Amino acid sequence: MKYQKHIFVCTNQRTDGRKCCGESTGMALVNEFKNYIHEHKLQHIYRAQRAGCFDVCQSGPAVTVYPDGVFYGNVKVEDVKEIFEQHILGGKPVERLKLDFKPDL
Ligand code: FES
Repeated sequence: MKYQKHIFVCTNQRTDGRKCCGESTGMALVNEFKNYIHEHKLQHIYRAQRAGCFDVCQSGPAVTVYPDGVFYGNVKVEDVKEIFEQHILGGKPVERLKLDFKPDL
């Protein structure tokens, strides 16, 4: 695996009125993550990029971090610092923003 942490941000934009994370909101989050990665000169091990819909649209704006498989919902630009410092650098997901999925049994 090339990156220790790979951050995907939904930038899906819908035009039919259904809720979506949105391109401008998503790109603001991508850019904020990139700023922190570059500030810390860690672009060789961490990457943030745009992605399509994760199918958690009602909880968007949505972000997911791999390889951890952690999904975050209702993420605001102001939350990026906390996710970066606590989860990306510190390895501890931010519980208050985590989306919990119950397994289908
Ligand atoms: S539009 Fe972002 S998760 Fe569906």
